[in-house]
Amino acid sequence: SKSEHLKVMISGAPASGKGTQCELIVQKFGLVHISTGDLLRAEVSSGTEIGNKAKEFMNIGRLVPDEIVTAMVTARLSRPDAKEKGWLLDGFPRSFAQAQSLEELKIRPDIYIVLDVPDEILIDRCVGRRLDPVTGKIYHMKHFPPNSEEIKARLVTRADDTEEKVKSRLEIYNQNAAAISSTYKSIMNKIDGSRPKEAVFKDIDSLLLSQLQKDKTTKSVK
Ligand code: AP5
Repeated sequence: SKSEHLKVMISGAPASGKGTQCELIVQKFGLVHISTGDLLRAEVSSGTEIGNKAKEFMNIGRLVPDEIVTAMVTARLSRPDAKEKGWLLDGFPRSFAQAQSLEELKIRPDIYIVLDVPDEILIDRCVGRRLDPVTGKIYHMKHFPPNSEEIKARLVTRADDTEEKVKSRLEIYNQNAAAISSTYKSIMNKIDGSRPKEAVFKDIDSLLLSQLQKDKTTKSVK
């Protein structure tokens, strides 16, 4: 039934673990994962017009202009699967203007999750991150190394994962965080993202389960 479709936003600094937690959330709850970073990287690698515009911003660790990203997200959210299964928005909104665009369209999440991780840890996580271009899985050379030589040989590093660019991404995140949170204050849940990924997921899992429970109760009262 409709009320069982969760709408979730996950936010947090670069490398706070959004993508990693989204893999686990999707596995358990079957939501449609909409990651603006992944969508933009796909546009860049297929060389589309959006990709060519986005590339210059992404490569230096800056935000892609609001119009481009907002159009991409609203198009994705309006597809039938997102309506049928519920959605998990990862990396959007990243500015006050982006949050306002969703508000104007009356697109609101049930839950707004913020992964809280200290800056020193974030830089180490970015510099050690590797992506598997075949499966899309996220690895870390120290924390989550791949378990086969075959996978190891094909891993790639993101162009924006150098220490210098991570610092710039972090600064931009910190400039925008408060303004975005103000939009979702009443549904915000801060989670300590510096713990092992299973511990972080345990908290997210119980948040989502209690939201589903709440939806059921509201429905049966009606
Ligand atoms: P995007 O891809 O969204 O990058 P980001 O926000 O910087 O986030 P990351 O993907 O770096 O990190 P994550 O939080 O997903 O962490 P992960 O799980 O990988 O955006 C990229 C760019 O696109 C932006 O800079 C911008 O240019 C553009 N863009 C995107 N959205 C936009 C928007 N809305 N508006 C404008 N521009 C936009 O984990 C990181 C590492 O840590 C991994 O190696 C992982 O294995 C490891 N790790 C994860 N969890 C743990 C843990 N608990 N313990 C130890 N290690 C862990």
